[in-house]
Amino acid sequence: MPFLLRMNLRATFLICCLAGGVAACSQSAKQETTAATGVSTPTPPAAAGSGLAKKAGWWKETVVYQLYPRSFQDSNGDGVGDLKGIMQRLDYLKSLGVGTVWLNPIYASPNDDNGYDISDYRQIMPEFGTMADFDALLKGMHQRGIKLVMDLVVNHSSDEHEWFKSARASRTSPYRDYYYWWPAEKGTPPARYSTFDVKKDAWQYDAPTKSYYLHIFSKKQPDLNWNNPKLRQEVHNIMRFWLDKGIDGFRMDAFQFVAKDPAFPPMPGLNEQNFANAYNHGPHLHDYLKEINREVLSHYNVLTVAEGAGRNLTEAHLFVDPARQELDMTYHFEGTGVGSGTDTYKLTDLKRVFTKWDSAFARQGWQALDLGNHDQPRMVSKFGDDRPQFRAPSAKLLNTFLLTMRGTPYCYSGDELGMTNSKFNGIADYRDVAARNTYQLLQQQGGNEAAFFHGLARFSRDNSRTPFQWNATKNAGFTTGTPWIGVNPNYVTVNEAAENQDSASVLNHFRRAMRLRQQHPVLVYGQYQLLDRANPHIYAYTRTQGTEKVLVVLNFSPEKRDWALPPGLKPTGVPLLNNYPALATGPTLALEPWQAVVVRL
Ligand code: GLC
Ligand code: CA
Repeated sequence: MPFLLRMNLRATFLICCLAGGVAACSQSAKQETTAATGVSTPTPPAAAGSGLAKKAGWWKETVVYQLYPRSFQDSNGDGVGDLKGIMQRLDYLKSLGVGTVWLNPIYASPNDDNGYDISDYRQIMPEFGTMADFDALLKGMHQRGIKLVMDLVVNHSSDEHEWFKSARASRTSPYRDYYYWWPAEKGTPPARYSTFDVKKDAWQYDAPTKSYYLHIFSKKQPDLNWNNPKLRQEVHNIMRFWLDKGIDGFRMDAFQFVAKDPAFPPMPGLNEQNFANAYNHGPHLHDYLKEINREVLSHYNVLTVAEGAGRNLTEAHLFVDPARQELDMTYHFEGTGVGSGTDTYKLTDLKRVFTKWDSAFARQGWQALDLGNHDQPRMVSKFGDDRPQFRAPSAKLLNTFLLTMRGTPYCYSGDELGMTNSKFNGIADYRDVAARNTYQLLQQQGGNEAAFFHGLARFSRDNSRTPFQWNATKNAGFTTGTPWIGVNPNYVTVNEAAENQDSASVLNHFRRAMRLRQQHPVLVYGQYQLLDRANPHIYAYTRTQGTEKVLVVLNFSPEKRDWALPPGLKPTGVPLLNNYPALATGPTLALEPWQAVVVRL
């Protein structure tokens, strides 16, 4: 393959891969070919009635709001969002109706990877506030009936963690075996791929002890050695520390990467496309999870969600089959993987993927649903249409989709407003370690910069990390200082204050969709059946539980479309939810561009 082309591909892939979080790359590998029938068996509710907040299933019935603290609300003018800022906005969170908030990492960190490099697991990052602020925040959430889930980042620590400082100082440090080392006298270590490293090399030579250490993310994120029972106990204690404060669960970052064979057998041919699968599911992964469950989780009524779902549906089950007593749910990357690395995507692919994963958990286990997160572009720019005339209807359609599928929806902060990808004017505007380090590589090796920036504009993780748009004042009301990353210029029209006042806004549609889900357990537990599978523009499905049956019809296109109701399906009454003022019904639904309706059958 000509070098330039190779470079293009590589740059594009890296961006999509890094944009998608650790497991995104694994989507390039074959997914299990289990045929999704489009029909799946109903899962009974955890308890009779709405069952809300019942021990066995509150995490199935909640909706999670993922909040990126650095970008939500700055309270002291330093340009960085903080805990006191979140505190000021608790009533807003309450007004959304979300049951749970997941905070991206707020622990002490030098911020090589925005908090995913932790230097003290029991301290709050000073930029974000103090432990007293945290305690007040947790209390404020609980007072409003909102639960709090924290990120648990234990595949790696920061190189500035005390454990690592001690470990790297001497080969006899008591913390040496908390990490992976390869002594230089054994020669060059067997190749391992690193996703954020400038040279993509996961081994970093460290002079003081003449050894290499392993880091599958950046060199400031050394991998923790889970083969060491002492390290595992440390993690259990960290988990207990936060759970005893009263938090309601953990999102387990990059967890499927934690298990490694310390002998480092050769893994020939590792590259961008296959490294994630190669690292997934190392030896003892499920022993570690069972141990965590036994020692820690089984003593608390909490939500646990793994980032990544393994390489196929069978592996996904291993994480969440209740009989195995490991985790509650897992989110997969195949959904957000649709359209990654390209400018367009096929609706039939999105349908196939979501239908397949629904059928996978129809009998046992449970899934997390998302269309975006802090590692992804904005959902409306990727799956919807962010041109001014279609932004609002398509954002409403996507929120309708997320909130009417089976699984626990994870709504990423700002998507309830229909926030879009931002505008960056060159590498200096980007903040993400993945973008910066890949750019360095590109400069060293040469390659097609235009293609690289095209990919970044569409897929950079920074797109979803720009400040929350509160109002039309300077910096969107996020900060009185200089924001750590540029505000999306469309804040003047797309902002919470304006949308709050407009009953037809994306925000108020989101609130209506939330209420609908809370009032209709069929939307949580009901059987999902895909209709009209091959239709390239319409995504339609029914949800059925007992005698309750609803139909969801989504026009994923900027054109008007007629959709013939399948025989036997008759909408009754006014739509339960509609992102347009009216719905033209008859034997055929006449749908407006990006129209989304939920009707009772
Ligand atoms: C996960 C996080 C991502 C982070 C990486 C390393 O993929 O979602 O933001 O960079 O893990 O911790
Ligand atoms: Ca601040």
